[in-house]
Amino acid sequence: MKSLLIALLVVALSHQVTSQSLGICVKTPIIKDFNSTRYLGKWYEIERFNYLFEPPNLDCVVATYGYLNETAVTVNNIAFNLKTNKTTGRNGYAYIPNLAAPNKLSVVLPIELYNVTFFQNEGPYEVLETDYETYALVYSCTQVVYDLVKLEVVWILSRKPTMDEKEIDYLKQRTASYKLDTSKFFRINQNCGY
Ligand SMILES: *[C@@H]1O[C@H](CO)[C@@H](O)[C@H](O)[C@H]1NC(C)=O
Ligand SMILES: *[C@@H]1O[C@H](CO)[C@@H](O)[C@H](O)[C@H]1NC(C)=O
Ligand SMILES: *[C@@H]1O[C@H](CO)[C@@H](O)[C@H](O)[C@H]1NC(C)=O
Ligand SMILES: *[C@@H]1O[C@H](CO)[C@@H](O)[C@H](O)[C@H]1NC(C)=O
Repeated sequence: MKSLLIALLVVALSHQVTSQSLGICVKTPIIKDFNSTRYLGKWYEIERFNYLFEPPNLDCVVATYGYLNETAVTVNNIAFNLKTNKTTGRNGYAYIPNLAAPNKLSVVLPIELYNVTFFQNEGPYEVLETDYETYALVYSCTQVVYDLVKLEVVWILSRKPTMDEKEIDYLKQRTASYKLDTSKFFRINQNCGY
């Protein structure tokens, strides 16, 4: 009976958000010489997995990171909401919990769902790969139900509003090399002029 209930819950959760999926978060590599200062500045979302806190009605998502202190950065996210035709923004910060793994940050942002800000969410932000100057591949995964259901996102980010298809394909291959499901990616419009 209990396992049936859990199975139903899992099915319900999995259907709710496509990126909520079965399994365990992937262990990602440590980039020992990751330099958060070089990572600062503006990043355009080119593709991302569909997930709960960033629904597909958000276009032109741009994240800007600024210097806060040695181990933390400010986070400013802006996006265009296609349902309301309005530009929305969220401000927060990110910090490096473990200096031995400087590419693994934790982001603290207010969560807005159905137009209501109801809590501060803290989530992982792991830079898988970046050259700082053109692209970044970022992974965030939270185990929603222990060992069973995960909320998983990968972002392909660019310093420019556009990215060559070849580069996008390459980053998808890199994503697949971490055993992540590249079929969950979808393209983000970046035509809002900011
Ligand atoms: C990180 O990058 C900044 C800006 O390029 C540079 O000044 C700094 O020395 C770098 N830090 C390390 C530890 O390499
Ligand atoms: C850096 O800023 C973060 C976020 O506000 C804070 O938690 C942390 O204590 C600060 N670290 C230092 C060394 O000031
Ligand atoms: C948003 O803009 C589009 C295109 O201009 C329009 O078709 C749509 O009705 C608008 N939606 C709202 C909620 O204003
Ligand atoms: C959502 O929030 C905006 C800005 O606070 C407000 O103008 C709008 O009426 C709200 N929409 C709904 C559906 O509550």
